Amino acid sequence: MTNATEQLSLNGLSGYENLDAMYEVARSCRACDLCKTRNSVVLFRGNPQAKLMIIGEGPGQNEDEQGVPFVGRAGKLLDKILESGGIDKDKDVYICNVVKCRPPGNRVPTPAEAAACKGFLEAQIEFVNPKLILLAGSTAMQHVLQVKNPISKVRGTWSDFKNGAKVMTIFHPSYLLRNDSREVGSPKWLMWQDIKEVRKQLDALEGLST
Ligand code: URA
Repeated sequence: MTNATEQLSLNGLSGYENLDAMYEVARSCRACDLCKTRNSVVLFRGNPQAKLMIIGEGPGQNEDEQGVPFVGRAGKLLDKILESGGIDKDKDVYICNVVKCRPPGNRVPTPAEAAACKGFLEAQIEFVNPKLILLAGSTAMQHVLQVKNPISKVRGTWSDFKNGAKVMTIFHPSYLLRNDSREVGSPKWLMWQDIKEVRKQLDALEGLST
């Protein structure tokens, strides 16, 4: 296990009383220009009591229309991947994004947009208090861990995170949509190894808590 040195500045409290209080503030947020083009503030799906959190980049068109993260093609693939690891998308995981409003044309959010949204993500990590965090893609890795590494190099390895949690970067499901091979060593095959590892960690956590 490696040590993540500079992490999202979760030095304690986000300042919100609970998740619902944060959601209410976020729904009327105008801290950056993404508010001008959004249809929805896309906050989360899944279980706020889950031990596993997945953080993606930001909403796309489907998510902006429906107000729920990862509901488009990438989200459907993510659900299949979770299912293949025996991870229930409604019960075992809380899914959210670095930014809560859609960047126009699905561009990568700017550092200023990510910074404007950071307090919301901090609150999600604080209140969900996951034991395992998966960062889907390089935007999530950069803004949570403050590092820029090739995902192919860092995936598969846990780092220590705040409050005794462990964090791992995984391929973004959109990348897997563009790389369809399932051959040994391919991105899809590597993702399957990572999901099996997550399942193993969840089993260990469940074993400890019973
Ligand atoms: N990609 C993301 O990173 N997040 C979503 O919610 C949808 C697609």
